[in-house]
Amino acid sequence: MRATNLARGGAAAAALTLSAGLLTLASTSASAAPGCSVDYRVNQWDTGFTATVTLKNLGDPISSGWTLEWDFPGNQKITNGWSATYSQSGQHVSAKNPSWAASLPTGGSASIGFNASYSSANPAPTSFKLNGTTCGDGPTTTTSTSTSTSTSTSTTTSTTTTTTTTTTTDTNPGVHVANPYVGAKGYLNPDYVANVNNLADATGGALGTSMRKVAQNSTAVWMDRIGAITAGRGLTGHLDEALRQAAGGTPVVIQVVVYDLPNRDCAALASNGELKVSENGLARYKAEYIDPIAAILADPKYRSLRIVGIIEPDSLPNLVTNLSKPKCAEANSSGAYVQGIQYALNKLSAIPNVYNYVDIAHSGWLGWDSNMGPAVQLIANTIKGTTKGVNSVDGFVSNMANTSPTDEPNLPDPNLTVGSQQLRSATFYQWNPYFDEADFGTEMRNRFIAAGFPSGIGMLIDTSRNGWGGPNRPTAATGSTVDAYVNSGRVDRKLHRGNWCNQAGAGIGERPTAAPRPGFDAYVWIKPPGESDGIATKTDGPNEEGKQHDPMCDPAYRGDDQANGGNLTGAMPGAPHAGVWFPAGFTSLVQNAYPAL
Ligand code: GLC
Repeated sequence: MRATNLARGGAAAAALTLSAGLLTLASTSASAAPGCSVDYRVNQWDTGFTATVTLKNLGDPISSGWTLEWDFPGNQKITNGWSATYSQSGQHVSAKNPSWAASLPTGGSASIGFNASYSSANPAPTSFKLNGTTCGDGPTTTTSTSTSTSTSTSTTTSTTTTTTTTTTTDTNPGVHVANPYVGAKGYLNPDYVANVNNLADATGGALGTSMRKVAQNSTAVWMDRIGAITAGRGLTGHLDEALRQAAGGTPVVIQVVVYDLPNRDCAALASNGELKVSENGLARYKAEYIDPIAAILADPKYRSLRIVGIIEPDSLPNLVTNLSKPKCAEANSSGAYVQGIQYALNKLSAIPNVYNYVDIAHSGWLGWDSNMGPAVQLIANTIKGTTKGVNSVDGFVSNMANTSPTDEPNLPDPNLTVGSQQLRSATFYQWNPYFDEADFGTEMRNRFIAAGFPSGIGMLIDTSRNGWGGPNRPTAATGSTVDAYVNSGRVDRKLHRGNWCNQAGAGIGERPTAAPRPGFDAYVWIKPPGESDGIATKTDGPNEEGKQHDPMCDPAYRGDDQANGGNLTGAMPGAPHAGVWFPAGFTSLVQNAYPAL
């Protein structure tokens, strides 16, 4: 109740601020001339550079498209770009808005970027035009240079001042250790920490205190669309903050989820994305998504960070079990998933301080031998097809955003017989012999090593929501039939192992831990606890990110045989779109944490 009232108060306050803001805008735009400002930032090396251009509209609102134009003073040549369509003729460049971002309100910004080549010198453009009008005082420009002679020079020029700083660094961004989690502290995402602490403040009491403990644990940063690279804090903002958190000397490990393949989430609707195979999605994934991410991660400034790349949740597993779904069939026949992942691994594994972990779903999905064998083969062959082959990855990650427990302590032996039946024949397990992530990950690791991967590969388990504590957690298994025994003993209280959306009763699991057991590099929190898996009720069509209502997120829906054996979904009511902060979901996860917070 209290939280609800506060939330309402918050919404009313926001509405007041907004209308005050509108008044101000109205009065300035009456006298505003068309205008714009540009911030032009360059990261350059001997023969090429990456530029980030932030354009701000200082004039009247633009609703039907914009074009930014400039002339390069030197022989710069754009090779590929993102978040705009570029054309270059001689030294003249024009960058046109992408079709999905045609409007730019007064005071609104667009951030675009490109890679380019040059020789001898790389002077910044001195003037930009927006829709034909020259932008005000000339651009603010920043150039950072990486050279192989162990010096880097950073020059900041605004219209009136020039400062030069010299720092010692080199282009090789440093070392690659065996297990990036050992001896490191995990990155705390300030945006997530703020969500948690605000709710903890509003909740108060013992529960608020427990909530606050969650904020002390590292969660992954999700690059879940092209815009996430630059929007808000953006990828560089997170990396800069990670450097700040490393200031004490202990290395920081920051986990970045790479999650934007065309036809994303092909077997479901809740996390459908912005790119489509049929709309040139693979080419856009490479040029507008992976290239800019790789260019940022390769910046020598970040070489002391340990950057973990979490590669494309659910994608290859969907090609193993869900080819009956048209979007998965298309992702398969076009090669988009396999080639997209190979491209990502090629780019990311070229950066020494990046560690790649590829998604292997979870025990309740790939545990059957008929799924596990083909999954290992597909994933292994995909990775072997990269430039560095099996060495382009450091390991594999299971249970991403899922709730399968790390251990089933009351059911350690799937072959135990009760009433002359093996436990794995129980309705809940359907002959799948892997009841938990520890057993599943161990077996997957053995099979990858048998398929030619180095024995040093390590597994990760996403334990952010697989705790299953609270009053309903059983401490023993009893009963004389196999179903009674399994149902009384399992800590996994899902109604069916195929349920996945905002599971009621799930709790926060083991805290992120380095090297928790042999063969495992870490327990990690990839899905930030409290962010929704999908919207509970259908409101309208896809949102601007492509996300939709999936009935598996509706608590009243009975699934089907394939999805969840026709059981209820077990989803919590009232949830917002995937990725959006869901306070009631977070509260339930905290209350059911195991170990307790
Ligand atoms: C889901 C969403 C994504 C979000 C992530 C973490 O997969 O689709 O947008 O970032 O969960 O909450």
